[in-house]
Amino acid sequence: MKRLLVLNGPNLNLLGKREPGIYGHGTLDDAVKLARETATEKGIEVDEYQSNHEGELIDAIQQAEGKYEGIIFNPAAYTHTSIGLRDAISAIEVPVVEVHISNVHQRESFRHHSMLAPVCQGQIVGFGLLGYRLAALALIESLEGRR
Ligand code: DQA
Repeated sequence: MKRLLVLNGPNLNLLGKREPGIYGHGTLDDAVKLARETATEKGIEVDEYQSNHEGELIDAIQQAEGKYEGIIFNPAAYTHTSIGLRDAISAIEVPVVEVHISNVHQRESFRHHSMLAPVCQGQIVGFGLLGYRLAALALIESLEGRR
């Protein structure tokens, strides 16, 4: 059975309570559910992992090699700072889709730049939790060779 990993970075465990004007009222479980529904329809399993710690996210990316067909990754604040996460993504063959719930380009200028986007397969920004579903669809369709 093919598997995808939904990986979430710092503070995303607080979704639903955290700045609802920006991130909405949906929870992290809701986000994972959207990705899982789309994957299940295609016979693909979804695992999830969230950490507030950069090194743990790096470990999860390294360990994804050989285990997952793709990673849906919201790196949260580390998007804008982390060379370590970028190097981890570059070190594996597994395709990564970067997701942001909010439209980072409408926000502070420090959120406009992603350290990770150049080494990801693609980026989905600004569609709320739906971005997790769109990322699952994009990964699965590209795995099936439709892109
Ligand atoms: C975020 C955007 C980041 O700039 C921010 O640090 C987050 C969430 C998003 O999903 O919109 O924590 O990744």
